[in-house]
Amino acid sequence: MKTSVPNRRTSLTQFLVEQQRSANAIQPELRLLIEVVARACKAIAVNVGKGALAGVLGSAGTENVQGETQKKLDVISNDILMEANEWGGHLAGMASEEMETIHEIPNRYPKGEYLLLFDPLDGSSNIDVNVSIGTIFSVLKAPEAMGEVTEKSFLLAGTMQVAAGYAVYGPTTVFVLTVGTGVHCFTLDREMGSWVLTQSNMMIPEETQEFAINMSNMRHWEPPVKRYIDELLLGKTGPRAKDFNMRWVASMVADVHRILTRGGVFLYPRDKREPDKPGKLRLMYEANPMSFIVEQAGGAATNGRQRILDVQPSQLHERVSVILGSKREVELVTRYHTETA
Ligand code: AHG
Ligand code: MN
Ligand code: MN
Repeated sequence: MKTSVPNRRTSLTQFLVEQQRSANAIQPELRLLIEVVARACKAIAVNVGKGALAGVLGSAGTENVQGETQKKLDVISNDILMEANEWGGHLAGMASEEMETIHEIPNRYPKGEYLLLFDPLDGSSNIDVNVSIGTIFSVLKAPEAMGEVTEKSFLLAGTMQVAAGYAVYGPTTVFVLTVGTGVHCFTLDREMGSWVLTQSNMMIPEETQEFAINMSNMRHWEPPVKRYIDELLLGKTGPRAKDFNMRWVASMVADVHRILTRGGVFLYPRDKREPDKPGKLRLMYEANPMSFIVEQAGGAATNGRQRILDVQPSQLHERVSVILGSKREVELVTRYHTETA
């Protein structure tokens, strides 16, 4: 009697091997790196899932370099990613939203040619209220002639990313990845402990009727953003001649995942609260990886003035204004900025 394998599924490992073999999109070291990051995300998901049972909720009682109070899970997730990636020989260094400066791979381990940057726990304000949170990562290739890794080695534009992705710890745990050949989504099979490909080539519709912005900051916005949102709020009777719906999770991972799934536009614009900071979100750990993903899914990402991936960073923890999602909407907000200028 013939036996067949039920529900033939593609695992992350198999997907990556195929990317290496047929598409020649990744090198073996990058494959290892992505697998290690995905494994670390599984470990973070386990901690997130235990919540109060494991005593991981609440504040860690410390501040990060950006003056934000760290939650216990910010610190735990950072440690998990650091420990998982340190010894494999695929990295030259790491940088994190939660660490003041870069982490060089210690001399007792072999060094590779990649640089890994991450926001270990995105959406920290949602941890204690049991709303979706996530992890965001970006991979750069270290400059060839690089001797010792310094902070400067990391200051590369987003166009130099060779991979980017995020995990969302929500009703299901998903891992969304790009290596420059489209955007692919894997769902964690919790019983099997494996990532299963559940959506390939995610595409963001060009048009949308949904926007995401923290409206409580309206009084601080610059005129082009105010103009754009005012027009959306006028709905059917306004210049856009259609009603728009608003969503704001306050976890960028969840807002971006919604946009990848059904379209929309996300804005965390520059505002007048802190004139020396051009926005809240961080270029290297949030804006660049998400912009790479969004562009790979047919969307667009700008800071209102310039494509985010073209921004030349001058500091590791640099902040940037972010407008990303459905292409036509992003182009319209960007045009409003140009017109005002
Ligand atoms: P983090 O938790 O890593 O500091 O990031 C939070 C970010 C982002 O995920 C979210 O879109 C935004 O901050 C929410 O900001 P507000 O609380 O100002 O709405
Ligand atoms: Mn974040
Ligand atoms: Mn964070």
